Amino acid sequence: MGLHSLTASLLGLVVVASSAVVDPKILDACPGYELDNVETHGSMLLADLKLRGKACNLFGPDIEKLQLNVTYETTSRLHIKVTDSSSARYEVPDSVLPRPAGDGHILPQQSEIQFKYTSSPFSFSIHRASNSDVLFSTGSHPLIFEPQYLRIKTDLPANANLYGLGEHTDNFRLPTHNYTRTLWSRDAYGVPNGTNLYGNHPVYFEHRTTGTHGVFLVNSNGMDVKIDDATPGRTTLEYNVIGGVLDFYFLAGSEDDPTVLARQYAQIVGTPAEVPYWSLGLHQCRFGYQNYIDVAGVITNYSLANIPLETMWTDIDYMYKRRIFTLDPDYFPLSRMQEIIEYLHAHDQRYVLMTDPAVAYLPDQGYGPYDRGTAMDIWLKAANGSFSLGAVWPGVTVFPDWFNPDTQGYWSNEFAMFYDSQTGLDIDGAWIDMNEPSSFCSYPCTDPFEQAVQQDLPPARTSSPPNPTAPIFANSPKSSMSLHKRVNHQGENLEFPPYEINNAAGSLSNKTSDADAVHANGLVEYDVHNLYGTMMSTATHNAMLARRPGLRTLVITRSTFAGAGRRVGKWLGDNFSDWEHYRNSISGILNMASIFHVPMIGADICGYAEDTTETLCARWAMLGAFYPFMRNHNADTSISQEFYRWPTVAQAAINALNIRYRLMDYFYTTFHTASTDGTPVLNPLWYNYPQDPDTFAIDLQFFFGPSILVSPVTEENATSVSLYLPKDTFYDFNTLAPIQGTGSIVDLDNVNLTSIPVHIRSGVVLPLRASGAMTTTQLRKTDFEIVVAPNKDGEASGSLYMDDSVSISQNATTEVSMAYSKNTLDVHGSFDYPTGVKISRVRFLDVSKAPRGVQLDGRVLDKNAITYNAWGKVLDVALEIPFRGNFSVRIG
Ligand SMILES: *[C@@H]1O[C@H](CO)[C@@H](O)[C@H](O)[C@H]1NC(C)=O
Ligand SMILES: *[C@@H]1O[C@H](CO)[C@@H](O)[C@H](O)[C@H]1NC(C)=O
Ligand SMILES: *[C@@H]1O[C@H](CO)[C@@H](O)[C@H](O)[C@H]1NC(C)=O
Ligand SMILES: *[C@@H]1O[C@H](CO)[C@@H](O)[C@H](O)[C@H]1NC(C)=O
Ligand SMILES: *[C@@H]1O[C@H](CO)[C@@H](O)[C@H](O)[C@H]1NC(C)=O
Ligand SMILES: *[C@@H]1O[C@H](CO)[C@@H](O)[C@H](O)[C@H]1NC(C)=O
Ligand SMILES: *[C@@H]1O[C@H](CO)[C@@H](O)[C@H](O)[C@H]1NC(C)=O
Ligand SMILES: *[C@@H]1O[C@H](CO)[C@@H](O)[C@H](O)[C@H]1NC(C)=O
Ligand SMILES: *[C@@H]1O[C@H](CO)[C@@H](O)[C@H](O)[C@H]1NC(C)=O
Repeated sequence: MGLHSLTASLLGLVVVASSAVVDPKILDACPGYELDNVETHGSMLLADLKLRGKACNLFGPDIEKLQLNVTYETTSRLHIKVTDSSSARYEVPDSVLPRPAGDGHILPQQSEIQFKYTSSPFSFSIHRASNSDVLFSTGSHPLIFEPQYLRIKTDLPANANLYGLGEHTDNFRLPTHNYTRTLWSRDAYGVPNGTNLYGNHPVYFEHRTTGTHGVFLVNSNGMDVKIDDATPGRTTLEYNVIGGVLDFYFLAGSEDDPTVLARQYAQIVGTPAEVPYWSLGLHQCRFGYQNYIDVAGVITNYSLANIPLETMWTDIDYMYKRRIFTLDPDYFPLSRMQEIIEYLHAHDQRYVLMTDPAVAYLPDQGYGPYDRGTAMDIWLKAANGSFSLGAVWPGVTVFPDWFNPDTQGYWSNEFAMFYDSQTGLDIDGAWIDMNEPSSFCSYPCTDPFEQAVQQDLPPARTSSPPNPTAPIFANSPKSSMSLHKRVNHQGENLEFPPYEINNAAGSLSNKTSDADAVHANGLVEYDVHNLYGTMMSTATHNAMLARRPGLRTLVITRSTFAGAGRRVGKWLGDNFSDWEHYRNSISGILNMASIFHVPMIGADICGYAEDTTETLCARWAMLGAFYPFMRNHNADTSISQEFYRWPTVAQAAINALNIRYRLMDYFYTTFHTASTDGTPVLNPLWYNYPQDPDTFAIDLQFFFGPSILVSPVTEENATSVSLYLPKDTFYDFNTLAPIQGTGSIVDLDNVNLTSIPVHIRSGVVLPLRASGAMTTTQLRKTDFEIVVAPNKDGEASGSLYMDDSVSISQNATTEVSMAYSKNTLDVHGSFDYPTGVKISRVRFLDVSKAPRGVQLDGRVLDKNAITYNAWGKVLDVALEIPFRGNFSVRIG
């Protein structure tokens, strides 16, 4: 216990042992509750819960009387809430996570899942109506409800297939032995596995061959979710939560299609934001670009190496003494920065700068961002009403209080001033970091000034200023917040609550804002800490939208809570340049894109901290080409790792980017579908093969969109991949030759350092650009080709969505369906948005012999237009027709 108990006893408080040492017999000796006054009203069941015997007072006094509300909201969604009937407790505000309305008239017998209960002791279970599967059952575990401790526990099948409960760097299928997932936002340098990280998504999906369902606990307090197999024959999952209420959604999912569950979850947390097309291009960043010459040099060198760089980024290096909304006049002078942005924009490229939440505490020193925020009184406050101070990059800081109704106006104004009116630094996207929020000051942060001195904040520059007139670019051209009920935390210990969650940072306030800091609406950090990054995300999204009304924003955040993906994307934080982080990035992107609905997700390619190697960086450039958000980023003390630094890495990047760019409209279409209904943009193998248990644990392969199987090399120095191919037909992306999966491992040898195994799942028609391009603007002027990849029944289908690529609401879109059956490809749809390009050719795969002829819209094509490759079984039909209306191509 060390420091924890010492500090606590100095404060005169008693520290109760953490749950890890509680005897399970005592735990199960808790009396539980009994159900009383049950009333049912159509889709709703209301009841009282009364403590059933002598209080066990495990981590505080048991609350005597609770209220239960069970509502069948839709045929697939059940909402169960347990609250204190006599006193208001904290609940996640609607302003942060608005809740969907129910259908209002669902009777229990109409629901796909059903609630059953026992009265004394009260327990409940959730059943799938169609097959009587028990999905959740609190049966043998008494409910515990205390001021600072809630416990609810369910029995699950042995070796349950559980996913979610992030953010984490553990296996995608969660361990079921003695495993704890802690949710408490933390600046988690190195993203160690087994620990709490930056973001919090208290939802899990459980998959069985008989169906997939989901459980979402809407609670932003710190918690440990313990998964264990100590009881023979079953898995148990236990929530240990240090505040708030039990507010559960149970989602029926489906018996045969896991993506149904993803769509149901999106109905609660919202569908992901549609991203600008350009944001799917390649992004380059690093911490440690010394000056504007460095930044310009990277842009030039990418171009010289023929690697398509879409967006250049700059980390906090550009700031004067690391203060947000400033430029260092010696290292990043305004006129040179303007020149860089003008150059990028003139070349159809983009620019993104970082903004942190912490504002340097500089009273009376003429620092506008501090002075204006102080005048508006929008800083987070300590319990005694003074500013809640931290020590972050610029030294001592204050933190914007996103619950203050004036903070949005402040933030939007600072963005408008710094990025537009004062500087003309017309950034295309925003990058927000350190928003757990992070502070370098340990708890108790009694002297942040001393801490800033000791930790050398802001750190001094390590290079001398550049020549301010160095030539660059040889060929250069010229919301309202509703007030929340005040939550009574009187007498509660907010720093060392009786139940101590397994926070890897130590006590709750260590290295972040204080748990007893108070927001403008009376809420305390103890309850809303996990929302800080998401609220900053919303404010930044709104500030960017105000700068460019009507245009989609690109905001990339580090900390997220459930629902963040409605507005922002994310990167997976400060990883290391090593193979373990390369590998676990795949489960990271799968969590965010296939479960949490934050699909604009990527890990730092080639690794952030420590030095990468040529082979790691080459492999990572290729894996990263299949992250939705593709950015190379690096720490300040690491060796340079832009893709052009090594010939092999450059070639690997060029090859993989070529595949990515050719697939970009397929992927953009997938994003569009996700934004309309929550269909995931990445898929673990089991989403496509839910009956195949061998897929359930796979997290080194994944589907990019619904149909592109990516199977990267995952071991250092390896030149082979042992990939799993389910029982289905696949096609090699390069040769287009068929390969029959048999539900077993296939060894691919000679996977050299510039190639990555990519397969097309049969049954799809893919719209591909005929070639890659140096920018996405140029790519959108490149012709399409169509690849028809039939399944075993000789059928395939696909779609293509196109629009102006950047507007939130569209005047004209093009939506095309492509269906293949009976040897005929039928392409039809609306073509209101002009594609401006041609269909150069159609390639039909798995064609067993050369056809007698091919017809386009019933007209026989010239023999010269047709090429048949017997080895790969590919029939290549040259078309060169404008892509602006329906057409069909028939073989034979
Ligand atoms: C019960 O929950 C439903 C769904 O959240 C809500 O609409 C209803 O008002 C609640 N009823 C009571 C009495 O709390
Ligand atoms: C469970 O894990 C904890 C922490 O790693 C360890 O201390 C404990 O011994 C483990 N218990 C069992 C039963 O394996
Ligand atoms: C973290 O990953 C390493 C390497 O894969 C593994 O050995 C270790 O057991 C993992 N730790 C946890 C807590 O999962
Ligand atoms: C760009 O390439 C030139 C020529 O190889 C090299 O001297 C320079 O250091 C590079 N600059 C950057 C920022 O990559
Ligand atoms: C208010 O509390 C903070 C610590 O949270 C402390 O540093 C500060 O001195 C206090 N201010 C007053 C006026 O007591
Ligand atoms: C805070 O974190 C530091 C390490 O970063 C650790 O040494 C210290 O014990 C922690 N303090 C508390 C109160 O958890
Ligand atoms: C990979 O090869 C390098 C260079 O030969 C060697 O130093 C390293 O140990 C090898 N790594 C593994 C995991 O075998
Ligand atoms: C690497 O492998 C790919 C795919 O098999 C092949 O096209 C390419 O020529 C190989 N490159 C080298 C340098 O051998
Ligand atoms: C949509 O049409 C209106 C009216 O014709 C025009 O003002 C606006 O610029 C158009 N917007 C887009 C995104 O094309």
